Amino acid sequence: MPSVPDTAPGARPPAPSEPAHVAVHNVIHTYGGAAGVPALGPLTLRIPDGGFLVLVGPSGCGKSTLLRLIAGFEQPTDGTITVAGQPPRPGRQAGVVFQQPRLFPWRTVRGNVESALRYAGVPRAEHRDRAEALLQRVGLAQTGDRRTWEISGGQQQRVAIARALAVDTPLLLLDEPFAALDSLTRERLQEDLRQVTAGTGTTVVLVTHSVDEAVFLASRTVVLSARPGRIVLDLPIDLPRAGRDPDELRGLPEYAACRKRIGHAVRAAAAQPTT
Ligand SMILES: Nc1ncnc2c1ncn2[C@@H]1O[C@H](COP(=O)(O)OP(=O)(O)O)[C@@H](O)[C@H]1O
Ligand SMILES: [Mg+2]
Repeated sequence: MPSVPDTAPGARPPAPSEPAHVAVHNVIHTYGGAAGVPALGPLTLRIPDGGFLVLVGPSGCGKSTLLRLIAGFEQPTDGTITVAGQPPRPGRQAGVVFQQPRLFPWRTVRGNVESALRYAGVPRAEHRDRAEALLQRVGLAQTGDRRTWEISGGQQQRVAIARALAVDTPLLLLDEPFAALDSLTRERLQEDLRQVTAGTGTTVVLVTHSVDEAVFLASRTVVLSARPGRIVLDLPIDLPRAGRDPDELRGLPEYAACRKRIGHAVRAAAAQPTT
């Protein structure tokens, strides 16, 4: 598997001189010491402000590892990562959404969002209004008083997204956030996530197994090789989205071409033996 990115004709990954909100430089991650499991890298990736980057790759290739490193939950074995020019600080500079919503079942929907605001250091007097505004943003107005077990899986994931947005950081990291949802709910949440983040300047990094999700959401898709994950495709997704509903978008020949390209790269990566 080549470790040189296969860049689309006419595609232009950010030049090293451009400011990058997230800069991953020569990162290697190995679990369990030098003789342990090489999970990731070497990998270099620059993500400028406001991009929507989707990471795709075979199971176990290091996608979650990369997200955790960017979030600052773990330190890379080698190489450097900066977020807005600084080493990552867990919980402070990025909102994180996992595959399972991870909510507090003893709190109401609003209480869950308020706890994220408290953690972010927002003054108590502002909690209620800010929580309501966030719930409205993710399509959950009127549900603040309900318990998390009284709402659907899709609504729970919306609460998790509202919690991540509560941190009010310019970076949102999502690890297969819709994988556990039925396909209709998933499509609705994909649309909503695009709307919530579009035009805000928020930088989004989302991991998925779904090639369609990658094309639908991304302004750029990066495909990783089998473990240890390295970049095998770095493809800008530049679709004429304005004024098109999701079905029209999915019907475009350019959409199909991106799907084909990414699908091919993912299948080739999955067929490679891990080292
Ligand atoms: N905490 C850990 N300890 C040891 N090995 C791990 C740990 N987390 C992940 N791994 C291994 O590292 C590799 C990459 O894992 P992960 O980043 O979760 O992959 P992905 O998210 O792409 O499925 C896998 O082989 C996995 O088993
Ligand atoms: Mg994972």
